[in-house]
Amino acid sequence: MNRIDFIAAAMAMSGRAMSTSAPAILRHGAFTRKLPIPAALHGALGSDGRLTYALRAQAGTSALLEGVRTPTWGFNGANLGPTLRLPRGKPVEIAVRNALSVTTTTHWHGALVSGENDGGPHSLIEPGAARTFRFALDQPGATLWYHPHVNDHTGPSVYAGLAGLLLVDDDHDVRLGLPHTYGVDDLPVIIQDRRFNRRGTLAYMTDGSDVMGMKGDRFLVNGCERPHAEVGAQWVRLRVLNGSNARLYNLGFAGNRPFSVIATDAGLLAAPTMQTRLLLAPGERVEIALDLSGDHGRHLTLRSFSGEAIPHLTPMGMEADAYDHTTFDLLELRVGARSGANTEVPARLAEIAPLAPVTGQRARKFTLQANMNAESNGVAQKPIGPGGMSYGVGGLRAFSIDHQYMNMKRINFSIPLGRTEVWEIANATKMAHPIHMHGTSFQILSRNGAPPAPFERGWKDTVLVRRDEKLRLAARFAHRASAANPYMYHCHILEHEDNDMMGQFTVV
Ligand code: C2O
Ligand code: CU
Ligand code: CU
Repeated sequence: MNRIDFIAAAMAMSGRAMSTSAPAILRHGAFTRKLPIPAALHGALGSDGRLTYALRAQAGTSALLEGVRTPTWGFNGANLGPTLRLPRGKPVEIAVRNALSVTTTTHWHGALVSGENDGGPHSLIEPGAARTFRFALDQPGATLWYHPHVNDHTGPSVYAGLAGLLLVDDDHDVRLGLPHTYGVDDLPVIIQDRRFNRRGTLAYMTDGSDVMGMKGDRFLVNGCERPHAEVGAQWVRLRVLNGSNARLYNLGFAGNRPFSVIATDAGLLAAPTMQTRLLLAPGERVEIALDLSGDHGRHLTLRSFSGEAIPHLTPMGMEADAYDHTTFDLLELRVGARSGANTEVPARLAEIAPLAPVTGQRARKFTLQANMNAESNGVAQKPIGPGGMSYGVGGLRAFSIDHQYMNMKRINFSIPLGRTEVWEIANATKMAHPIHMHGTSFQILSRNGAPPAPFERGWKDTVLVRRDEKLRLAARFAHRASAANPYMYHCHILEHEDNDMMGQFTVV
């Protein structure tokens, strides 16, 4: 057992790691509130033909829990951010203004843009300053997202509320007849967990084991605890983002109702696939379609059947908290009258040509490591988040990739522009890590030699690598990133990223 595991185990035994019971004053909601739908921004046409969008990172107060005022951060509001709708191929300009008292960045997760426009940790936006990003997305319609990416402080930034959806629109979904009326039959579902102090403020890194991944005991969808959405008795599409810092969800519906998975992180699947469960790791997205045409008057509950899957991901159960061992509710769909909308999910959704790496080319190999000597205790935390929330520590060297810790000044490797590579990621730790890379979307080739599950056979940008697993993927690097603004590859458990499970590469 390495040192970090040991610390977590010791804390679990002493009971300190299991701070998962709800404080008495904060009662769990029972789907009383309506699912908030983030506003959609379609951009304004500028004189140069670009669509322009404006985001402002700011502080505010939110009712994440019913009847509780919580200081939070958000874009253009108190929490989360508007859904940016970017038409494929259209030049856009996004101005991000920082009205917070801390330095931030805004990264377009999953967007195929150059390093300069990627919004990574080198693209800082100081308090009071702004930064403008310009690009045109040439990639399939998809559910992407955006969030800060400050070195050592991505975790607290996202936890404080800074995250939003970015939808690439290519009209392919419309032509296929998929539900596409935003907020009506095409619903954003951003799943996050949070821990609260008794005063109702956000609690971040308040437990010694939180460096293993910050998990909360209250579950929010679009920044609202256990909301309900009213939908018509028709096909409905859910664009689900696991926007949590560290928690995995094993999604399903009460009664084991099957659902169609139609898209992965970066686009539609070749064909829909029926599932009753779907494991979604932090940073991953999935689009699901549900036929509710025969469900008039019924209520459907989206849950996480965590206990069925999460404890198996780790041998000693130390990273699995009480919620990971159970089933809990996330969102209720209330089905109303037939809407007349006559959509259906076609049998073929997209053409996905398999990426062909150059034959004879060696795979680029990575090994995920936990650090035996990391010190997770006794580091003073800055209380500069919303409501005095801890702004985390970061830089603790708790996790690494190939024994290399994130170093802003080191480029870990360089890839020739236009190359397709095979990456082989081996997990030498005792827990699963969702690995994400910037500047590309990829195809999973195999997990321990076996082909990926049908719902993973599409374009991805984040993938869960389980313990004892060797995962192979193919990725094409068609966008440039210089040493001044390199791309990142990292674990999307944000406390792992912040504690150095990240590296940098250029594409030149
Ligand atoms: Cu969603 Cu490098 O991040
Ligand atoms: Cu990213
Ligand atoms: Cu990790």
